[in-house]
Amino acid sequence: MKRSQVLWSSDTQLPTPVLKRLDEALLACGYSYTSGKTHNFYHYPARFSPEIARCVIGTFSRPGDLVIDPFMGGGTSVIEALTTGRRVIGVDINSLALFVSLARTTPLSARDEAAVRRWAEKAASYANGADPVISDPSVRHLPWAIRSFVATALRLAEELPLRRQRNFSRCALLRLGQWALDCRDFVAPRRSRLAKKLPQLVEEMLGGLGEFVASCREAGVSRRTILRNRVLLHRSAVGLEEDEHLWIESARPRLAFTSPPYPSVHVLYHRWQYRGRKETGAPYWIANIPDGYYASYYTGGSRTPTGEQHYFDMVTAAFRSVRSVIDPQGWVVQLIGFADTGSQLPRYLEAMDTAGFQEILPTEDGKRLGRRVPNRKWYANLKGPVDASSELLLFHKPR
Ligand SMILES: C[S@@+](CC[C@H](N)C(=O)[O-])C[C@H]1O[C@@H](n2cnc3c(N)ncnc32)[C@H](O)[C@@H]1O
Repeated sequence: MKRSQVLWSSDTQLPTPVLKRLDEALLACGYSYTSGKTHNFYHYPARFSPEIARCVIGTFSRPGDLVIDPFMGGGTSVIEALTTGRRVIGVDINSLALFVSLARTTPLSARDEAAVRRWAEKAASYANGADPVISDPSVRHLPWAIRSFVATALRLAEELPLRRQRNFSRCALLRLGQWALDCRDFVAPRRSRLAKKLPQLVEEMLGGLGEFVASCREAGVSRRTILRNRVLLHRSAVGLEEDEHLWIESARPRLAFTSPPYPSVHVLYHRWQYRGRKETGAPYWIANIPDGYYASYYTGGSRTPTGEQHYFDMVTAAFRSVRSVIDPQGWVVQLIGFADTGSQLPRYLEAMDTAGFQEILPTEDGKRLGRRVPNRKWYANLKGPVDASSELLLFHKPR
């Protein structure tokens, strides 16, 4: 296919078929989370749907291009970029985002798979074993049955010889923890139920990983190339250009596709909640990664006026960095929601303008593409309303 057939190059409006595709993908976004590939590994809060990621990446980049997501979260865009033959850079300040995105994009061999299956069976068979002693304070508020089952399974996972096997196992325990806490209004499941569930989840996840590798292969990307095609960074998007070795003049990102935190919208990226109330830092304990920050660290600012100013300063600085690394002909496409569209959208557009980007309105009548914010389970800890139909898909080009 010729470049012009794939990329929207007009500065004024999107061709009708592209508009229709994006609209449909936006509609699917949030109402039906597809669980294919490795999208079932972890329910990252405020994630966007694979449909919209795939549609935007397919419209605004070509196979072989470099795509960047400066706020990658659980890595939805990373997966969709890799399975459509793009190279990708994913960035996030949350170590949990990096952990999950790595696990979701690291292929396992048949031997790895067998080792992980054996681990899950063994962990399940220890369900009635002695109570392990857990000194980690971050597991406070994690119901006893989950804590004790997971602690034993973690100890067994440490016996796995390869790091990718251990990380996959830890990821399976993250998934198990989310599943167990999802029944907010009931008591948490007993150890025997967890023991039954773990091997099932491992099987589903291995299936998902197999699908991911097969999709990459269909796009002409071999198992080994997958690892070469992705760079995942645990760092702030602010100052990205300082990682000089990443930015080769001849191969700059064609597309930045992302969903930054929403201004004044509180999402718990770093905690799980038990019965919708009590917070636990257990995900960091399970993944064995550093934690230690407040919620506002991950949302760009608290919901106070000062916090909101911090947020807009962060967005300006982050996109200024994106501006300095992106291809001058490239695109920034982002899904962003507002608690108060009337006052926050103009500030957001001003931040993008200051960062060096010009907004491109997609339709002839100057309307933006948007969608209603659906009711998402792992999004339910969102406090403060998001305007109905205020989640927008914004398009920018470097000025
Ligand atoms: C809305 S979430 C992204 C969700 C993602 N699109 C997905 O599908 O999973 C926003 C992410 O931005 C990250 N973040 C916040 N401030 C950041 C910064 N300065 N640099 C990089 N990432 C940041 C948060 O940790 C969070 O993971």
